[in-house]
Amino acid sequence: MTDEIDLRIDSECFRNVLGHLPTGVTVITAHHRDGPVGMSSNSFTSVSLDPPLILFCPAKSSATWPKIRESGSFCVNIFAAHHEQASRQFSRLGIDRFAGVSWHDRAAGPALDDALAWIECTIDAEHEAGDHLIVVGAVRRLEVREGEVEPLVFFRGQYGSFLGQADSVRSPGDRES
Ligand SMILES: Cc1cc2nc3c(=O)[nH]c(=O)nc-3n(C[C@H](O)[C@H](O)[C@H](O)COP(=O)(O)O)c2cc1C
Repeated sequence: MTDEIDLRIDSECFRNVLGHLPTGVTVITAHHRDGPVGMSSNSFTSVSLDPPLILFCPAKSSATWPKIRESGSFCVNIFAAHHEQASRQFSRLGIDRFAGVSWHDRAAGPALDDALAWIECTIDAEHEAGDHLIVVGAVRRLEVREGEVEPLVFFRGQYGSFLGQADSVRSPGDRES
């Protein structure tokens, strides 16, 4: 084993290897004084149960993150399997990202009506991390939508969905004997 960092790691290799981790996809939204803002993000993850904390990582180059920061809170919308187009839309520049999207107001930010779940947060901390930031959110309210439970999945730069039957998904406490 070596403890040296391989300085030859290039961005293409990094993206390719890290792209092998399947993730869910979210859109992080906020109420800005100029109107609703949102950005697709697959860097979202849970951090702490007590207190309840989550994180996501906006690029330092993001124009949307400073607007979310200004608002002081944000709503994490977990995309459902049918949200591929919405996920693309919420990452495009120079368009109205909310065009054709049905959403309702929540205290922390706009909530997409048909998201799988909503996690409302206030901004707890912001850490520098290379060309990105690690934003820690303190969870204030959270809810799961009734009905469809199939999530949107991102893997190797492509969209997909989870093939398992929702009823057969094991909780971490269920162990094979
Ligand atoms: C599936 C997917 C995941 C993304 N995840 C992130 C992310 O975690 N962090 C990030 O800064 N941008 C992410 N983006 C890109 C942003 O959605 C957006 O394109 C970028 O922030 C530029 O827009 P902005 O300048 O308005 O922020 C992702 C885009 C897609 C399609």
